[in-house]
Amino acid sequence: TLFQFSDQVLIITPETQEQVDILKNVTSQYETALWQPVSPVYMKEQAEVHLFVPGESFETEQVYSGFRVSLPNVNELIEMQTMNGTDPRSTSTFYERYHRLEDIYDWLNRTAHDNPRTVKTILVGSSHEKRPLYALKLSFSDRPNRKAMWIDCGIHAREWISPAFCLWFVHHVSTVKVEITDILNNMDVYVLPVMNPDGYKYTWTTNRMWRKNRAPSHNPKCVGVDLNRNFDANWCTEGALPYPCSEIYCGAFPESEPESRAVADFLREHKDSIQLYISIHSYSQMLLFPYSCTVEEAGNHNDLLEMVQEAARKIRTFYRSTYKYGAGAKTIYLAPGGSDDWAYDLGIKYSFTFELQDRGEYGFLLPPSRIGNACNEALTAVKTIALKVMEKT
Ligand code: ARG
Ligand code: ZN
Repeated sequence: TLFQFSDQVLIITPETQEQVDILKNVTSQYETALWQPVSPVYMKEQAEVHLFVPGESFETEQVYSGFRVSLPNVNELIEMQTMNGTDPRSTSTFYERYHRLEDIYDWLNRTAHDNPRTVKTILVGSSHEKRPLYALKLSFSDRPNRKAMWIDCGIHAREWISPAFCLWFVHHVSTVKVEITDILNNMDVYVLPVMNPDGYKYTWTTNRMWRKNRAPSHNPKCVGVDLNRNFDANWCTEGALPYPCSEIYCGAFPESEPESRAVADFLREHKDSIQLYISIHSYSQMLLFPYSCTVEEAGNHNDLLEMVQEAARKIRTFYRSTYKYGAGAKTIYLAPGGSDDWAYDLGIKYSFTFELQDRGEYGFLLPPSRIGNACNEALTAVKTIALKVMEKT
C-alpha cells in the first residue's frame, strides 16, 4: 500500500536506455517537474536526473522506490526562501535574502538615487506583460564611449540566486572595493537584474518552478517561451523545441519575445563599447562560453578556456567549491538560441554563461543562508575574467 509523500526531489541516474525511456515517460505522464535536465529530450544514460515530485503524486511510488530522495521537505524550503526577516533575530542583510519583484524595483530606484554620480537607470524595454526592463549603468567616469561589460540576471524565472547576484554585484561595486575599482576605472558596467520579470513575479505568486517568460501561445494551456532559446544562434535546432508546451520552447521566430529583443537591441546598439558579456543562471556550478549551439570551437576558444580555468581555480582556492568549465555544447549539452552565443557572434568576443550554486543539493531552492557564499564565488569569477579582458583589449 501507498504511503503519503510530501513534496520532494528525487535524484536518479538511469543506467540503461530502457531506464532512460521509463524516466522520459514518467516525466510526461505525471505532475512532476524536471529540475535537471531542463527537458526530457536531454536525458541520457549515466546522467543524473533531478525530479521534483509534488506530494499528491504518491501513486508513482512503484516507479520511484529505491531512488535517492534528496530534499525531504520542499514546502519548508520554499517558505524559508520567502520569509524574509519576519524573524527579528535574523541577522541576514538585504543582500542575503531573496526579494519579490516590487522590492527589486524599489531597490533599483533607491540605488540610483543614492549614487547619483555613478549609477543611472536605463529603460531597455518592457516585458510581455508590460513590466519595465531596467538596467543599471555603473560608471566612474563621464567620458563617453568607454569600454563596457554587460551582466544580465534572471533570464530563467526560477533561478532566484541569479537576480540576487546582480543585486549583490551592484552593491559590491557601489561600496567601492579596491580590485573592483581597477575594473570600474577602465570600463562601464551595465547590469540587468531581472530580464524576465513576468516569469519572476509568477514564481512568487503561483508556481515557484516556472522557467520561461509568460507570453501566451496559440495553445491556451501552454504559456511561455524559453528566452535562452529565443536568440538568433542556430535558432530552434537540436536542443530546443518548436512546441509551446516544452520548457525549451524557442518561440515563433528569433527575438520574437520583447525581453530577448530588448537585450539584443541594446547590445547591438552598444556593441562597439561592450567587450564582455555575462549571463547569470543556476544551478550546477559551471562557467560556460560559446558555443552551445554547435560543437564547433569558437575562434578564441583557448583565451576563453584560460579565463574560466583561472576563475574556477580561484573559486576553488578561496571557497573550496568546484566549478566545471568549458564550451557549452561540450560541457552540458547542445542548447541553441542562447544569449551568450548570439552576443559572441555579434562581436562580443568575451561571452559567458555562469551557472551558480549548487550542484543539486537544494537546486533552485538554495537557502538564503547560502546566498553570500554563492555570490562571492560568482563575483570572483566576474572579477578574474574582467581583469583578463582588460589585459587583452
Ligand atoms: N542551462 C542553460 C540553458 O539551458 C545553459 C546555457 C548555456 N548557454 C547556452 N547558450 N545554451 O539555457
Ligand atoms: Zn537558466
